[in-house]
Amino acid sequence: MFNIILFGPPGSGKGTQSEKLIERYGLKHLSTGDLLRAEIANKTPLGLEAKSLIDKGQLVPDEVVIGMIDSAIEANAGVNGFLFDGFPRTVAQAEALDKLLSFKKSVIGVMIALQVPEEELIARMLNRAKTSGRSDDADENVLRNRQAVYRRDTLPVADHYRKADKVEEVNGLGTVEEIFERLTQVIDKKKGI
Ligand code: AP5
Ligand code: MG
Repeated sequence: MFNIILFGPPGSGKGTQSEKLIERYGLKHLSTGDLLRAEIANKTPLGLEAKSLIDKGQLVPDEVVIGMIDSAIEANAGVNGFLFDGFPRTVAQAEALDKLLSFKKSVIGVMIALQVPEEELIARMLNRAKTSGRSDDADENVLRNRQAVYRRDTLPVADHYRKADKVEEVNGLGTVEEIFERLTQVIDKKKGI
């Protein structure tokens, strides 16, 4: 298995690039944001609890998302590897993920950190708000809060993987194709292709 964490602030292009990467490398895409939005759409108790936090730009509790990832890993035995998008988002989630993968005799192959300036992120998300229907995109205060939560709670996750020399930074500005090209170069090098 070759497992990748696609890391970066809200709006940095994780979802966009994940769609292309899973096709190129045959990986299973695990986005905790997508999994949570599916719970909300199905009006499950978990979805209802998550919605009020997501709408404010706050994180859902660690045990909830770790449980979702645990189930998803179990449900996808035999895949080539996982592409984690929007997870792990706290150091506690990173430690839990490392443990879950070690039970499968696996590890994170690389964490790719997309670098995009904040004003570009806000502009992208305000633009997406016109069509996405995502309630956490519409209000600029919520967008700014999501960026603040990222800086406070999520950036330390990069330090966690930096200690293991797993982090590669990639410029997230440019066309979708240009960025995809940069990502595949990093991954191919790590995989020794
Ligand atoms: P989540 O769904 O993970 O959202 P996010 O990380 O905030 O990021 P986005 O999905 O908004 O952006 P993205 O990086 O995927 O960029 P995208 O490709 O869409 O999380 C949502 C919420 O769920 C969280 O706030 C939290 O409440 C909760 N949650 C989720 N995971 C959690 C966890 N692990 N723990 C706790 N809580 C959790 O691109 C953005 C836009 O830009 C799009 O319109 C796209 O078309 C456009 N775009 C993409 N690439 C480019 C480019 N190169 N140039 C110009 N525009 C571009
Ligand atoms: Mg996304």
